[in-house]
Amino acid sequence: MRRCAWPLPRLAARAGLVLRHGGGAPPPRLAAAAALRPAASSSAAAGGGGSRAPDTSLFVPVPLKPADGAPGEDVGAELTRPLDKGEVLKSLNKFYKRKEIQRLGADNGLDARLFHQAFISFRKYIMESSSVSADLHIILNDICCDAGHVDDLFPFFLRHAKQIFPMLDCMDDLRKISDLRLPPNWYPEARAIQRKIIFHAGPTNSGKTYHAIQRFLSAKSGIYCGPLKLLAHEIFQKSNHANVPCDLVTGEERVYANEDARQATHIACTIEMCSTNTPYEVAVIDEIQMIRDPARGWAWTRALLGLCAEEIHVCGEAAAIELVTELMYTTGEEVEVRNYERLTPLTVLDYALESLDNLRPGDCIVCFSKNDIYSVSRQIEARGLECAVIYGSLPPGTKLEQAKKFNDPDDPCKILVATDAIGMGLNLCIKRIIFNSIIKPTINEKGEKEIDLITTSQALQISGRAGRYGSSFKQGEVTTMHRDDLAQLKEILSEPVRPVKAAGLHPTAEQIEMFAYHLPDATLSNLIDIFVSLSQVDGLYFVCNIDDFKFLADMIQHIPLNLRSRYVFCTAPLNRKEPFVCTTLLKFARQFSRNEPLTFDWLCRHTKWPLAPPKNIKELVHLEAVHDVFDLYLWLSYRFMDMFPDAVLVRDIQKKLDDIIQIGVCNITRLIRASQSTAASGAAVAVSEEFPLSRTKRDTRLMSDLQGAKSTVQLPTAMEAPEERRVKSLKAYRSAARREDLKTHGRGSLADRLLREGLLTQEMLRELESEWQVQHRNGRYGPSSKRDDQNSSKETGKKKK
Ligand SMILES: Nc1ncnc2c1ncn2[C@@H]1O[C@H](COP(=O)(O)OP(=O)(O)OP(=O)(O)O)[C@@H](O)[C@H]1O
Ligand SMILES: [Mg+2]
Repeated sequence: MRRCAWPLPRLAARAGLVLRHGGGAPPPRLAAAAALRPAASSSAAAGGGGSRAPDTSLFVPVPLKPADGAPGEDVGAELTRPLDKGEVLKSLNKFYKRKEIQRLGADNGLDARLFHQAFISFRKYIMESSSVSADLHIILNDICCDAGHVDDLFPFFLRHAKQIFPMLDCMDDLRKISDLRLPPNWYPEARAIQRKIIFHAGPTNSGKTYHAIQRFLSAKSGIYCGPLKLLAHEIFQKSNHANVPCDLVTGEERVYANEDARQATHIACTIEMCSTNTPYEVAVIDEIQMIRDPARGWAWTRALLGLCAEEIHVCGEAAAIELVTELMYTTGEEVEVRNYERLTPLTVLDYALESLDNLRPGDCIVCFSKNDIYSVSRQIEARGLECAVIYGSLPPGTKLEQAKKFNDPDDPCKILVATDAIGMGLNLCIKRIIFNSIIKPTINEKGEKEIDLITTSQALQISGRAGRYGSSFKQGEVTTMHRDDLAQLKEILSEPVRPVKAAGLHPTAEQIEMFAYHLPDATLSNLIDIFVSLSQVDGLYFVCNIDDFKFLADMIQHIPLNLRSRYVFCTAPLNRKEPFVCTTLLKFARQFSRNEPLTFDWLCRHTKWPLAPPKNIKELVHLEAVHDVFDLYLWLSYRFMDMFPDAVLVRDIQKKLDDIIQIGVCNITRLIRASQSTAASGAAVAVSEEFPLSRTKRDTRLMSDLQGAKSTVQLPTAMEAPEERRVKSLKAYRSAARREDLKTHGRGSLADRLLREGLLTQEMLRELESEWQVQHRNGRYGPSSKRDDQNSSKETGKKKK
């Protein structure tokens, strides 16, 4: 019998492990194996340093091919003899079942899941390799000949496990990189100066932004950071009108105040775009409560901790004072709080609007779906009234035009129909806000539709648009469209506002790059997952939702890109529910990876530019997506100028497209009619719920749960705890909705099917019902043919118009 000539310590050393031989008793193998615990480092599973154990389900094994040595190169077989694979299999299975080995695995970072996966891979590797390394061969041979113990396999097993799970070997480094406990230290420039923080706190329309902007305008240099392009635009215009040259900077746009494109001393930007390296005298951070936004909160945290300004003016809801003060305590900076009161009264009316016949100039109807926007605006125009329309996915130019039209006292358009896209900081000439509904449909992470009551903060922010100081309406009013909703709205508005508890954080490109250095085989999406699972944050912070990032990372994973470029592509602001925009990103990335510049001609071919004004809603929605594609191009052009060289031309056609979309929006009721007749004739679905809910990523973020604002609204005092009331109301609403659903579902009516398929909204249904009633009354539905019915309904439509 040929015997193993190599002592265990040498083998272990080859396996890259430190062995401390116990000698004598206890039996050397286990004592040696027990000593395999890596000194101090990577006691990962145990969660070294008190940190939580990693989520090992995220550890994707790196595949290892079985060794395929050339014949005659099996040194192990030469030294001993060829392996009996049947015996080897038995020994391996015995090894796997040993409790001591499992414990040892756990000590080395292999929890049950990793242990199992590593073993399956180890066994497969040995069984499928035509030859294994000489040292392993000898040990296996010894075990099969009863001259060795299965425990002797452990060093080889661990070496294999670390090959397929490389994170096990660098857990401490990974933990260090993903340690997000001291974000203030990420901004050395800001820490090098003493900043003064002034918090302008108060309800909506109390002059918070106004006062901060007064200081911004009087400073030698300043930066305004806002949540919306429209707000950045408002400050950009205000500043330039006040003869303080100010640039506009958004992800997709740079507008220079100076003709020679020299940077102005003042900048108005969307918050994600603010620079943390440029020194300013004054910085304004607007809508600070957004710091707790699950997706965008990190941008406020970064601005608050990182802006290099002598004075930082923070504007927002009082609910964020405590958090900002605590954050500034960690930077050693004091916060001065200036409180404001609402400048004009806001009253919740005791009556609902009930009918669009009761509309008055200055009314704004707030809907939570684009379908409702279409339906309501059509009914308004049917009454001979003109209305402006604003919803999230409209291009900024169109939104501005619509707002201008509504604000213009000389324009006949006196009614606004909008989604909650208007619900933050914007100044519009609204007298009365009418909630068309107080429930809001959203799409959850699984892509399922959900509905929920609006939150107190959403209700306050939206209501706060009424009676803006300086507008033609000195008092604001709030009510609902339907009588049943009014009590509920009052209840929602009367609830106290939850304080903002934590600030968002996002891993930086550098951190992810360092992770990738340690885990070169992991996909970007997997790197991010492991980062988040290992990351440690202190109680004042949370890690933002990175689903959009991961979605894009998975989408372009197969395209060969360096990590930096890949990271940039994944941070592109697009709505993942817009297939056309996603496909375009994919095409951009593919062509980018081939080093072929994305030219204007290419983009025109891809988007079929030039495009005609829309003939129906479906075409309008497509144009909005094309606008987003142009936005994407422009966004990328600021990051990869050489590869996206035609920004000027693209900006030009984007402006033209904005005009075309405006024509569509002005003709919106005509488009709705066209869409409805297409749908009725059984052709493509034009007004589908898919479209109304597919807001841009930016808008989705804007509409995410805002924290409540203080309000001067006189509201009924509540006896119950707000949370209880809220749960109760929601329950009441849901059971009512269920009853309603059962009622209609039981009937299995066409209306129900159309509602469920999104072809019909409740609004449309109401409208149809009243039309039918009129027709019945007029005796139109006699025993006539189907064709007659269609004609008569068309006629009614015309008459209504
Ligand atoms: N002292 C003032 N003099 C003139 N106009 C003012 C003054 N204070 C506020 N305004 C105007 O009142 C309107 C509302 O002010 P502002 O936008 O600052 O409110 P806000 O508290 O920031 O509201 P929101 O919470 O909705 O952002 C703006 O049009 C602003 O220009
Ligand atoms: Mg404001």
